[in-house]
Amino acid sequence: MSRMIKIRVPATSANLGPGFDCLGLALDIWNEVIFETGEGLNFRVSGEGAEKLNKGNRNLLTKAYARVHQLCGKNMEGVSISSHNEILMSSGLGSSAAAIVAGVLGANEMLGNPLIQGELLKLAADLEGHPDNIAPALLGGLVISTKAEDGFLWKRHEIPEWTVVVVKPKLEWTTKMARAVLPKSVSRADAIFNIGRSMLVVEALLNGDLEFLRKVMDDRIHQSYRLRHISGGMAAYNTARKFGAAALSGAGPSIIVFTVPDHAKDAKAQISSVFEERGIRAKSLVTKPVKTGAYRVES
Ligand code: HSE
Repeated sequence: MSRMIKIRVPATSANLGPGFDCLGLALDIWNEVIFETGEGLNFRVSGEGAEKLNKGNRNLLTKAYARVHQLCGKNMEGVSISSHNEILMSSGLGSSAAAIVAGVLGANEMLGNPLIQGELLKLAADLEGHPDNIAPALLGGLVISTKAEDGFLWKRHEIPEWTVVVVKPKLEWTTKMARAVLPKSVSRADAIFNIGRSMLVVEALLNGDLEFLRKVMDDRIHQSYRLRHISGGMAAYNTARKFGAAALSGAGPSIIVFTVPDHAKDAKAQISSVFEERGIRAKSLVTKPVKTGAYRVES
């Protein structure tokens, strides 16, 4: 029987300063993926990353799609997958997590929903290696998540309206590089610094308290190690802090800042110009958190 399913999946910003590998927020930037029964496996992308992704059928999305079939003991039937991407790639906005979540959810829908939400989350987080982007991409909102012995534990929150500015420099920077520059261990003092602030960042986001968020969105276990390898990164981060609560988005290289609507335009321009002064092109956007995670668009 011929089937056609459309999935939408949001961008995410992980870490949010101190919440390294545990905190993530869904943002109002979406990839839209259509799965349609067909002959063999066809995969096509338009929008962000099209040039890079249209080189074959082996990618995170198709891998996740195949993994669901394998786990459910189903043969993979012919399928045409076309994705329209708005999420910037290699930016720290969860494009990999979005691809995995789209593949997992698309396969589950095509198979008549054999897996429940917790199973989808575990499967997707196992493919990504950590849950902080996967969980908000799948569930929406602000999600605190952590590895447990036999899976993941998570808590999802809905947060009020925030104005969020993101600036992405055009640089060669991958999550692999971003993890390689981190120290293997952290001091007790730095761990305590981050533990307290992680909890307070959640409080500030839930309460819509920008002044407080600005004070607590700070980190000692990943950001500075990464920013010093991103050309203009530290200066851009310091500029972003003038407009509100700033962080490296995920593993970077994008800088994210929570600000007031009136400051968004200047924040975009000034953070971008820090990179541009160094001859680095930058893309910038204004977005907001979303309560909705990945979902099937009913036709
Ligand atoms: N928590 C991850 C990191 C997010 O900072 O490396 C990127 O996938």
